[in-house]
Amino acid sequence: MSCRVLLTLLLSGCAWSISTNRTIDDEKGDSVSGLVPEYTPPGAWHQGSTCSICTVHLDTEQVLDGTWHDTTHSPDDPEPRSITMRFNGTAVYVYNVIPNTIANTNTGTNLTFAIDGALVGTFTHTPSSSTEFDYNTPVHSSTDLKNQEHTLVIQTVGDTSPSLILFDYVVYTFTDDSDSPASTSSSSIQVSIY
Ligand SMILES: *[C@@H]1O[C@H](CO)[C@@H](O)[C@H](O)[C@H]1NC(C)=O
Ligand SMILES: *[C@@H]1O[C@H](CO)[C@@H](O)[C@H](O)[C@H]1NC(C)=O
Ligand SMILES: *[C@@H]1O[C@H](CO)[C@@H](O)[C@H](O)[C@H]1NC(C)=O
Repeated sequence: MSCRVLLTLLLSGCAWSISTNRTIDDEKGDSVSGLVPEYTPPGAWHQGSTCSICTVHLDTEQVLDGTWHDTTHSPDDPEPRSITMRFNGTAVYVYNVIPNTIANTNTGTNLTFAIDGALVGTFTHTPSSSTEFDYNTPVHSSTDLKNQEHTLVIQTVGDTSPSLILFDYVVYTFTDDSDSPASTSSSSIQVSIY
């Protein structure tokens, strides 16, 4: 008795990609490239864990890498405060720490999010009477982005009432489709066993 098996694997026109999440920490920056966020105006921002004049003191165990960025935009400030980040990816998620009641401190939050110059979202929070902070709070997400470099700008809106931001980190989805067989040539593998 003879046995013959013929296996043909055709990979023509087959597109595939691999997506992985990467983080951009407020202080350390991009987990792969090391690119750090830009804070403007620079003098208006503080890295909270080393800030002695800040009224917000967080639990460093509950923020990514023990750091966060803190600023308050008040109605008499000439310009808003912003964070600018660049990334190559198809989705982006922003995580902040949300403050509630702190004695003698304005803790309302009012933010806008723009990607590549277009407004994509807002976030507002009216403090509760609790003195707890809400850690790892998703304040914005944008998915289904074109797979290319994007610029995300987070901006405070404090022109009518003060806006406090405690920025922790961003997660973005890096999608590698550079090795897709469809983008090179189609290939076929044939295995014969006699
Ligand atoms: C990336 O993180 C977001 C938010 O947690 C999640 O919804 C998404 O499924 C993750 N994507 C990948 C490829 O792990
Ligand atoms: C995005 O990818 C391009 C092409 O690889 C690279 O030149 C650019 O520096 C990357 N941008 C960021 C923000 O990593
Ligand atoms: C956020 O700011 C906008 C623009 O000043 C204002 O219209 C809106 O009422 C504010 N929202 C909150 C919840 O403070």
